[in-house]
Amino acid sequence: MIQKANEYIERNRIRKEEKPVFHVTPPVGWMNDPNGFSVYNGKIHLFYQFHPYTNQWGPMHWGHQVSEDMMRWEELPVALAPEKEYDAAGCFSGSGIETEEGHVLVYTGVKEIKAEDGSVNVYQNQCVAIGDGVSYHKIEKNPVVDGEKLPEGFSRADFRDPKVWKDGEQYYMVAGNLDENNHGQIVLFSSNDLREWKYEGVLAHSEGVLGRMWECPDFFPLDKKQILICSPQSMGAQKLEFHNGHNSVYFVGDYNKETGEFVKDAPLSLDYGLDFYAPQTTGLPDGRRILIGWMQSWDASLIPEEQKWNGMMTLPRELSLVNNQLIQKPIRELKQYHSGKVTYEKQKISGTCQLDGIKGRTIDMSVEIAKGDYQEFCIEVAHNEAYTTYYRYNPATEVIEVDRTYSGVCKDVVCQRKMQVKEVSDTLKLRFILDRNSVELFVNDGRQVSSTVIYTPQEADEIVFSCDGETEINVIKYDIQID
Ligand code: FRU
Repeated sequence: MIQKANEYIERNRIRKEEKPVFHVTPPVGWMNDPNGFSVYNGKIHLFYQFHPYTNQWGPMHWGHQVSEDMMRWEELPVALAPEKEYDAAGCFSGSGIETEEGHVLVYTGVKEIKAEDGSVNVYQNQCVAIGDGVSYHKIEKNPVVDGEKLPEGFSRADFRDPKVWKDGEQYYMVAGNLDENNHGQIVLFSSNDLREWKYEGVLAHSEGVLGRMWECPDFFPLDKKQILICSPQSMGAQKLEFHNGHNSVYFVGDYNKETGEFVKDAPLSLDYGLDFYAPQTTGLPDGRRILIGWMQSWDASLIPEEQKWNGMMTLPRELSLVNNQLIQKPIRELKQYHSGKVTYEKQKISGTCQLDGIKGRTIDMSVEIAKGDYQEFCIEVAHNEAYTTYYRYNPATEVIEVDRTYSGVCKDVVCQRKMQVKEVSDTLKLRFILDRNSVELFVNDGRQVSSTVIYTPQEADEIVFSCDGETEINVIKYDIQID
């Protein structure tokens, strides 16, 4: 099946001119969650949920790309395909880790068994594949963790997305699960050899209020605290938080490794845009913790129907912690690809204008906006006579709204989302990163992020500033060029 997928990709690969320049996309077909984000033999590997044959979700493979700087990605052969009895219904999300045996992938094998009455029973079990950074083989002992290892009543059908790490000589794994009341939870396992696993307990629980199934957990230390990330399905919104239905949240807490107890603060949003889900992190040899997410929403996909590829990753982000809240910054490697700098200082904006040299669809643009006598300041990107995407800022309410209604959307999908600015000061700092089909907005040096895809034709490349009163802005814009 791997060979079949690779041959199909070879015949149908989409031209790179038709896709984002530095964001990871599938060669053809459908992509969702990042998987196996890890360093192996000095290179950064990223796998992903992949269905090469159509632009929709289907039997899950693991696609594979590798990079030295997370800006230029090289495509490698498909790493996993659903072909064993224990994963025939899909190789679902999981993680990767460098070991002495090689590059180990731990993923969820999905198995479906038809009952006599015609209904289908689903089993999700954790499986291991080992490889050399290019090809991977599934081990004999698979699955290494099945639902029998869980306490009575916990779901066997919703038990997935293992994230593995090593602490001292011991391996640990967290996975998403549902308890006997169908409430989301994260279960913890330990192992000496990645093959024999021991159930350690429930690490965190939704208490029945934070969404349903908790997907794609990640658990790591950061700046003397411990962070739990997960993606709760079907989560209710609270004020301007948690609006995507399927959300991605993080908890900051303290972890007692001896007792396995994780004491955590309330959940916080990882992203305030329309397209962000199932993020995963990896540590780098230089000490940085990097996060990458799937830049798409399960509910509101808006690719043009004829487009033969679907889904992309966010730009990887560097994580740090300030006042017990995550700061997410674009990876510093981005700067190596800057060219064509254009700056404006203390530029007065009153009414609507464009600034010479400030345009483009593959750019890194920072805008500092002073408080002033106005009710709304607006930046439009990917703009021309027919199309535009608005970022509106209201200084009285400190709310920023993205609105992609006129970005070329031809479906009835949600197009607006608001963000309450958390760090309020005299100047609002916005950094927009555009890469043909996406806009990632970093607010106040990474204090909040808003990621949104736009499938606007590329000729719409103007940027428009408007203010209904008067204010001053500083702008620095770079083109991003990868040859
Ligand atoms: C999250 C998710 C995972 C699952 C995968 C299947 O987006 O639903 O829980 O492993 O996608 O593709």
